[in-house]
Amino acid sequence: MKFTKFFALLLIVALAFGAVSVMAQDETPSGELEIFSWWAGGGEAAGLEALIAEFSAMYPDVTVMNAAVAGGSGVNARAVLQTRMIGNDPPDTFQVHAGQELNAVWVAEDKMQSLNELFEANGWLEQYPQGLLDLISDAEGNIYSVPVNIHRSNVMWYVPANLEMWGVTVPADWDEFISTTCPTLQAADIVPLSVGENWTQAHLFESVALGELGAEGYNGLWNGATAWDSDEVVAVWEKFGQILDCSNDDRNALSWQDASQMVSEGNAAFNIMGDWAAGYFLVDLALEPGEGFAWAASPGTDGTFIMLSDTFGLPVGAPNQVAAEAWLNFLGSAEAQDIFNPLKGSLPANTTADITNSELYNAYFQDAYEDWTTNTIVGSQAHGAVAPPNFSNSFSTVIAAFADDRDAETAAASTAELAVENNMIMEGM
Ligand code: GAL
Repeated sequence: MKFTKFFALLLIVALAFGAVSVMAQDETPSGELEIFSWWAGGGEAAGLEALIAEFSAMYPDVTVMNAAVAGGSGVNARAVLQTRMIGNDPPDTFQVHAGQELNAVWVAEDKMQSLNELFEANGWLEQYPQGLLDLISDAEGNIYSVPVNIHRSNVMWYVPANLEMWGVTVPADWDEFISTTCPTLQAADIVPLSVGENWTQAHLFESVALGELGAEGYNGLWNGATAWDSDEVVAVWEKFGQILDCSNDDRNALSWQDASQMVSEGNAAFNIMGDWAAGYFLVDLALEPGEGFAWAASPGTDGTFIMLSDTFGLPVGAPNQVAAEAWLNFLGSAEAQDIFNPLKGSLPANTTADITNSELYNAYFQDAYEDWTTNTIVGSQAHGAVAPPNFSNSFSTVIAAFADDRDAETAAASTAELAVENNMIMEGM
């Protein structure tokens, strides 16, 4: 009996705290707001800056500190963030991928505040796709971040006129690329596939794995149903090696933007990159979709969409809670998503945004949206959706070793160990 009373009291206290956090939204946001991300420039920053400009107009008493740490896919930002979080020095809000990158570390370690009230108050539970809500929720259904977009990972970029000039077409699968497309281009002294630094190689790997294993086999890599040391996965590594043989030797010295630019400048025929490359081609390089750059699903993945989502969360101990809540409240709105995504190359995550407006969202987005709404959806490993950060960090070491020694058996065996160490047996999409 006593215990029941005690828990009832606890519940009242908890509700009171909940109410405090809702009431906090009624205060006028002011002071400094630190927004932490890796959108620091070169195709990354324009969307974020446009959001900050609108937010600053809405909340003139807030001074935004754009604390972006440069480095594609957050390789540097995540390291800085980790140090700060461990040192109890969180930013007010930070960029984090939906899925395991959010849940396996920050949510699991109780470092994030639940955003259930925000989602309920804004009607977002009805406005965001359920699959995405699942990726930002814990097992009890508590929501921990606000998605600003949907990016596609498995995209192959090219320039149509160049392919015509070189006498090649978009390869239907990797076998065609290796046996026909690659030798034709190499004979003409054109790099068949531009590839950049280590994380872009892991990014390429997931497209190759999907192309070779299919959606079911690919999903099995993240939930234990596909053994990393099986013959079929060893064969994926071998193919990956043959594909790297069709790429530039200076891979590790190039950023993703450098590799994209090799295609737009006619030094390479193809590049595999997420559709932030569309943002780069459109905004930074001012290219016309369909002419200056064009796209296809990466070889062998037509009909499947590898998704990832950039989200922002509210860490426990955020110094400016009120301003951070105002930022998240804005970020999740259709209005903010229609400001951000046409510049970023991604689709709005909020389904009430104006995605069908082709004035705002050009031919690239219309194509991506068609695929997003009709394809089989799987999650990205390279961008935090389906594998825990511990796995992904070590996987980059496996990729680096393989790029040097091309030892498929060892790469498969090492990754199989990582999957066991990280308990990747029932997770995934
Ligand atoms: C991804 C991120 C994208 C883009 C890309 C390149 O991880 O989701 O929004 O920033 O890295 O840096």
